[in-house]
Amino acid sequence: MPPRTHWENVYSAVPAEDVSWFQHRALRSLRLIRETGLPLSASILDVGGGASTLVDDLLREGYSSLAVLDLSEVALSIAKARLGDHAQRVIWIVADITHAGMPDHSVDIWHDRAVFHFLTSDVDRQAYIDTVLRVVKPDGHVIVATFDEDGPTRCSGLPVMRYSAGALHSTFGAPFELLAHERESHTTPGGNIQQFVYCHCRRSGSSARP
Ligand SMILES: C[S@@+](CC[C@H](N)C(=O)[O-])C[C@H]1O[C@@H](n2cnc3c(N)ncnc32)[C@H](O)[C@@H]1O
Repeated sequence: MPPRTHWENVYSAVPAEDVSWFQHRALRSLRLIRETGLPLSASILDVGGGASTLVDDLLREGYSSLAVLDLSEVALSIAKARLGDHAQRVIWIVADITHAGMPDHSVDIWHDRAVFHFLTSDVDRQAYIDTVLRVVKPDGHVIVATFDEDGPTRCSGLPVMRYSAGALHSTFGAPFELLAHERESHTTPGGNIQQFVYCHCRRSGSSARP
């Protein structure tokens, strides 16, 4: 089944609060974004944001340049409906991040929770990293959360990759400086514990791709 169909089916069949990755509030992501120290005008892209409430909190905090990208139009519709009129303050992009045509150097903060780890082929991972290098401004921030080495081997019925902070950073490579990393024990709506690792990197200041 094509990935887009898979995700549209999931978000059509399961209430957003019942999916295993659901968080009432994405407080760790919110804190990591705040800790970049960038102003409220910083351009933030939530990659594979789905129906996450991170965008609600970012709007409440006063961030004014927000985009949420996801393969699933249904997921983005759930977030838009929840936000009501405030949804107009966000750019919504239905796209596959491995083929997304966003403008070069347009993003100050790239955020991804639980998306990169679904990329199980070298080709897709490289396409994702090439997109980060192209789209994130020099010296911009990249916050990526995946399952940790002791996290689950599957999510939403799909196989996933698991990473230590070091392995995730070396997958991204030399153009990224690892500023910080932390673990999170996520409790799913069903009561299971899943270990995540969050890496906060800075994209190198050079605008040249390696
Ligand atoms: C496990 S969910 C995480 C959702 C959200 N980041 C959160 O933390 O609540 C993975 C999300 O990534 C999206 N996704 C999966 N592969 C993708 C891709 N190649 N491009 C864009 N979005 C993708 C799915 O539609 C889904 O919304």
